[in-house]
Amino acid sequence: MRKKFIAGNWKMNTTSVTSKDLLSGLVSGLSDEILEKVDVVVCPPFTSLATTNEVIKNKKIGIGAQNIHQKDEGAYTGEISAPMIKSLNCGYVILGHSERRQYFGETNHLINAKIKNALKYGIKPILCVGETLDERENNMHMKIVDDQVTLCLKDLTKEDMKNVIIAYEPVWAIGTGKTATPDMANEMHIIIRQALENIFGKDTADSTRILYGGSMNDKNAAELLAKPDIDGGLIGGAALKADNFIKIIQSAY
Ligand code: PGA
Repeated sequence: MRKKFIAGNWKMNTTSVTSKDLLSGLVSGLSDEILEKVDVVVCPPFTSLATTNEVIKNKKIGIGAQNIHQKDEGAYTGEISAPMIKSLNCGYVILGHSERRQYFGETNHLINAKIKNALKYGIKPILCVGETLDERENNMHMKIVDDQVTLCLKDLTKEDMKNVIIAYEPVWAIGTGKTATPDMANEMHIIIRQALENIFGKDTADSTRILYGGSMNDKNAAELLAKPDIDGGLIGGAALKADNFIKIIQSAY
């Protein structure tokens, strides 16, 4: 049985000051009992990671970053490394998000290097995959997503895969208010699971959590999360209000 996993991707929103309110709302609205039932992770901007540690203290809420560089350290002005986020208690990092692919030219090859670096430091990557509208309309979505999974996870072992989470995020659904229907999403999750089975075998395919992301909110979450192959959500816009995010978490159990 795969435990449900709900992560909030705050993107480039909130300052170290305004993030406090959002985090306080989560801490007061999420009981220890709820946090036993569902794995909850917040991924604020780097500049709010220290505040996040202060506010969530001993609550069982995981902390994730939204990116890392593929190298450990060095002359890479403006970049953030795995050991840097590790020192701020990040157990997770979002990698391969479509906004990183689209606006910052990240390739499957680069994402693969970043995933390996995260794993080296014991940080669990949340690998995002998903097709554009054009790719779906040209019936290429299955091949695109299969390639993303295969190339981004290249050279990983079954042991590594115990620490990898995948998020299927159709690009056309991100921030647009258009959600994949539960059936459409589940169909793609099955394809991803099949790709995992082809590479790592059935055990890994059965135990890897595959999240859905793309305009998931407190209204549509329950229906999406009820699908057998949807193991959680990666939430953008709806994670910026504590009560919305909490409602999504509540619909996961
Ligand atoms: P959205 O973003 O929920 O605002 O569509 C999801 C994501 O990009 O991870």
